[in-house]
Amino acid sequence: MMNLEFLFHMPTKIIFGRGNLEKIGEEAKSLGKHALLVTGRKFARKYGYINRIKALLEKENIKVSIFDRVEPNPSFETVNEGGELARKENIDMVIAFGGGSAMDAGKGIAVLCAQGGKIEEYVYPSIVKGEVIPIIAIPTTCGTGSEVTRYAVLTDTKRRKKLTVVGYPIIPKVALVDPEVLEHLPKNLTAYTAFDALSHALEAYWSKASQPISDLLALESIRLIVTHIREGYEDPKKRDVLHYASLLAGMAINATGTTMVHGVGYYLTAHHNIHHGLANALFLPFALKFNAPTIKNKLLRLAKYLEIEVSNYEDAASKLFKAICELEDALGIPKGLKELGIEESEIDDIVRDALEYERNMKNNPRPISEEDLKKIVLETYRGRP
Ligand SMILES: [Fe+2]
Repeated sequence: MMNLEFLFHMPTKIIFGRGNLEKIGEEAKSLGKHALLVTGRKFARKYGYINRIKALLEKENIKVSIFDRVEPNPSFETVNEGGELARKENIDMVIAFGGGSAMDAGKGIAVLCAQGGKIEEYVYPSIVKGEVIPIIAIPTTCGTGSEVTRYAVLTDTKRRKKLTVVGYPIIPKVALVDPEVLEHLPKNLTAYTAFDALSHALEAYWSKASQPISDLLALESIRLIVTHIREGYEDPKKRDVLHYASLLAGMAINATGTTMVHGVGYYLTAHHNIHHGLANALFLPFALKFNAPTIKNKLLRLAKYLEIEVSNYEDAASKLFKAICELEDALGIPKGLKELGIEESEIDDIVRDALEYERNMKNNPRPISEEDLKKIVLETYRGRP
């Protein structure tokens, strides 16, 4: 029987559609008078978005300050710097424009602006409570789903660890999702970020914390990504569906959190600068294979949803494994860790590091021992068939 007991908290106003960036002024004017535009170092300036957003806000008499120093995998230092600027300038709202990095940094800055201190003081297991200044998130990749989540993933550069700021107050008030901005996304980043979204959807789906609504969002997100990822990869004008699927997956993980794939992937990003979505893509098929015996019914439901004919759960697992591998091959995803130049001697370090992401490991449907994890990392090292 279906377990009909759940909590689903989704307070974000979502505005989706081409050209909707134009609505930024209108949306912002009810939230504040002085915005901090938080963005990365290149993309927003290169394509004229900084000037465009600034002009749209100023038209509504909103004062604009700019913090365009967010690096990929933003550090505590960057967030603290942004927080200081926000407090000094009496900012009353954050507008985060970019991929996960800009949105996650923007969330951290919003916390510091309202509550003070250093961002290190707010990372999990602490939970952000109390008000933060309102955030408008504008995602420019088809991956993180951060525009609708209560998570901000930041990097402790000294310890080379990914740490998370968590709490309902950091969920953006408005998500402005305008697929036009994806036209500038390079092909490889389109693939990597879409695989991050696919990973979110699959992990939400099999997560121990999964529930009826997150399951629906995850199933549809998976279907849309596997159906449309190839055309989106090839044609920058056909990425609207991927933007939508990434949003759905974000709503799903906001309810469930992520599992072992994210937990084991963080090492590659923190130690080898491997893109977060690529790291997840590499582990995803092997995680599916490992989790299969614990999620039999879910796999059957997923196969049915994707209209893949299967005889039993093992057949479903092997067909889904193959489908993911074929997609990754088609999109130029490297085969495995070996191909990326990681040394086999590093496997133990990867395993040790992954086990420290206890929250992810505990949220995995199948209990995972050190031995299990070692096997999965070794398979990922050797790579997809
Ligand atoms: Fe992710």
